[in-house]
Amino acid sequence: MDQFEEHGIRVVTGRDASARALRSPDLTSDPGIGSPSVLLRDGEGHTRLRGVLREIIARLEPLPAPVLAGIEAVVAGLGPEFDLVRDFARPVAGAVTSSVLGVALDDGFLDRLEATTANLDVFGGTDRAGQAAAFRLAVQLSRTPAGPGGLTALRDAHAAGRLDEDELMFNPVVLAHAAYENSLNFLACAGLALATSGPKSVRELAAEICPARYVLRFGPEGPVAISLADGLPFGLGRHACPGSGVALAEAEVALGALAKLLAGGCSVTDVRWKTHPVFHGLAKAVVTRSGNG
Ligand code: HEM
Repeated sequence: MDQFEEHGIRVVTGRDASARALRSPDLTSDPGIGSPSVLLRDGEGHTRLRGVLREIIARLEPLPAPVLAGIEAVVAGLGPEFDLVRDFARPVAGAVTSSVLGVALDDGFLDRLEATTANLDVFGGTDRAGQAAAFRLAVQLSRTPAGPGGLTALRDAHAAGRLDEDELMFNPVVLAHAAYENSLNFLACAGLALATSGPKSVRELAAEICPARYVLRFGPEGPVAISLADGLPFGLGRHACPGSGVALAEAEVALGALAKLLAGGCSVTDVRWKTHPVFHGLAKAVVTRSGNG
């Protein structure tokens, strides 16, 4: 069976059925609310906006030396006991997201980003607190001076007539959220896999962990949740993740450094999972190194 219903939403599962649905011309990402977000539209507006975001992301391919050094410094700074979420995944994902935007993002910003409405939340959509957090972040970023990077590039694109006012207001947060939330969840889960079982490639880990479990589409018969859990961690089709190269490169460096640190052995305690229906991730996992050197 590759279809069932949950909360009145049709759910598509299985790699082939999900791939077909993601490529189907009959399903759209646009819920019909006139959203300026790249994730929630299709057609000319989506292609134009995605083009601007791809240019921004391409600046991090390959990852610039200061970003690599920043990731290595996070891992080098880990003590004999550390939380994989708070001390490893969060600062790494935060550093990469800061470089994507060209703005130093502090803990308060990252807290709010985690509280933001999940753009891919297929069973939600009424999360007022999350929407309010996203709006506050949009206003905050619109007033933030930015160096070279994504925020400046989005402002330049607006000045050149490539983005309208609403697109400029919301897509910096959409980009930050897309870059941060999935990387955070992936890095923490992959760190746990490294600490508790044998080595695996970053691609294998991404497919197994699949941090974004579903994406939402709209068809003639209503909304459809498409499962990505069967080997499609970055989606497929028009909205396939444009940051997958950055995500894999970031994980390669961070997990490679972590593997070296844990080579002497370790134990893991206090493992707690998040309970979000779409974003699969850890809330906490404490690693204690046995071969401290
Ligand atoms: C392990 C980490 C990541 C995973 C698993 C992931 C997964 C995904 C998935 C499944 C989508 C498709 C959403 C849909 O079809 O509706 C997506 C979209 C997107 N991702 Fe990622 N992502 C990750 C990291 C990143 C990073 C690091 C960036 C930026 C540097 C990024 C930027 C984006 C953007 C801008 C979109 C929207 C694309 C569009 O709507 O056309 N992602 N991501």
